[in-house]
Amino acid sequence: MFLFKCKMTSLCRMPCNVFTLFVKEQSKYFKTNIRRCSKLSTNENASTVTIQGQVFQRDDMTTLTPKIIEKVGRNLHNQTNHPLYLIKQQIINFFYNRFRHLGSPLFSVYDNISPIVTVDANFDSVLTPKDHVSRKKGDNYYINKDYMLRAHTSAHQSELVKSGLDAFLLAGDVYRRDHIDASHYPVFHQMEGVRLYSKNQLFGDNSNNTLMFEDGQRTAEKQQFHTLQAAKTLEFELKTTLEGCVQELFGTDIETNWIDAEFPFTHPSWELEIKFQGEWLEVLGSGIMEQEIISSAINGQKIGYAFGLGLERLAMILFEIPHIKLFWTDDKRFHNQFMVEDTTSVKFQPYSKYPLLIMDISYWCPPGYEVNDFHDLVRNIGGDLVEEVALIDEFVHPKTKIVSHCNRITYRSMERTLTKDEASHIHWKIASEAEKILNIEVRKI
Ligand code: DAH
Repeated sequence: MFLFKCKMTSLCRMPCNVFTLFVKEQSKYFKTNIRRCSKLSTNENASTVTIQGQVFQRDDMTTLTPKIIEKVGRNLHNQTNHPLYLIKQQIINFFYNRFRHLGSPLFSVYDNISPIVTVDANFDSVLTPKDHVSRKKGDNYYINKDYMLRAHTSAHQSELVKSGLDAFLLAGDVYRRDHIDASHYPVFHQMEGVRLYSKNQLFGDNSNNTLMFEDGQRTAEKQQFHTLQAAKTLEFELKTTLEGCVQELFGTDIETNWIDAEFPFTHPSWELEIKFQGEWLEVLGSGIMEQEIISSAINGQKIGYAFGLGLERLAMILFEIPHIKLFWTDDKRFHNQFMVEDTTSVKFQPYSKYPLLIMDISYWCPPGYEVNDFHDLVRNIGGDLVEEVALIDEFVHPKTKIVSHCNRITYRSMERTLTKDEASHIHWKIASEAEKILNIEVRKI
């Protein structure tokens, strides 16, 4: 998944090795640019940022913009009949039906936990190393050095395990600075799941502790504290459960494929891909929870697995929704399609295809230029009228070694025909603001 493994997939964004190098080299300038960017894009007192009535001090780490703050509290996943709500409910129902204890659902569900979290919860509580690429300022919406909008629902794993839960699902909005296209939006939704087992639950009553734990070696197949038998049993449980879940959503004919992955909080780890229209699409990340997370949260001798599903990705496949920004529209022609009693066979019908307007902008990148700063700026000015920003050309000047980028911005309204004048106005504004704020030098527009 993209946050931690850095592939170009729904949850991943950038080949991390290239990006880290770039940022290391440019970080000196990066700080100044971000600060100016946040200042420009808010009309609040420049030293604070307010999110849902909570006031935070800004500092050098602040990357949050007003356009993103507007999204906090929208809770699309809790709006009855919203496609994200529907997919969330289908997953919950699957777990409710599959796992029961004394006639009641085993899993508890949380879908209203604030996305404002400490940096510690988002990263440290799930063992993310201090120098891990996923912490990058350029990829996250930091409120300040101590707080951020969660980048994944795994941020709550540890606190919920600490509160004594053995089996839970947690749905929520997550925030990542990202490029703009049909499947990427800076706010999206995840469903996290955790299932812990005691030795009796895994191996039956009267089983021995040594079936579950050993002081052994960490290998590709298991952690040092787990027996191979325990790791393999959990792996089987995890994989059959999650395969069952996607079969519930997409039907039993769906083709699935497990691939090895790496996350700081699980070992071993896997991603599940499903075949959709001839292509393999990754829909979830999962793994055996690092024992350290469990043992620092509870005393009991338990082991468990965890997973994180991308709700937009699943809903786009299930309902054939072609662009991620549609989830945010208020247009009744979108929402009415999901206001039906039985949603099992609903396929989104495009209500109209308003024309695209395509405009390019090429510019010299200043030292410290950060690609996500440009995307945030475009989003702040163009909002959801911007459908895609694609880098179509990049070259380095042979003498000055300065990098030139040509970005192609696609404008389209989902609700009406956008006039050329309107789009040009936005495009020019983007150019002039980017010159002012990001210090780019426009070459051609
Ligand atoms: N948090 C991961 C991401 O956003 C997804 C994930 C992977 C969640 C593995 C998990 C897990 O709980 O075990 O990329």
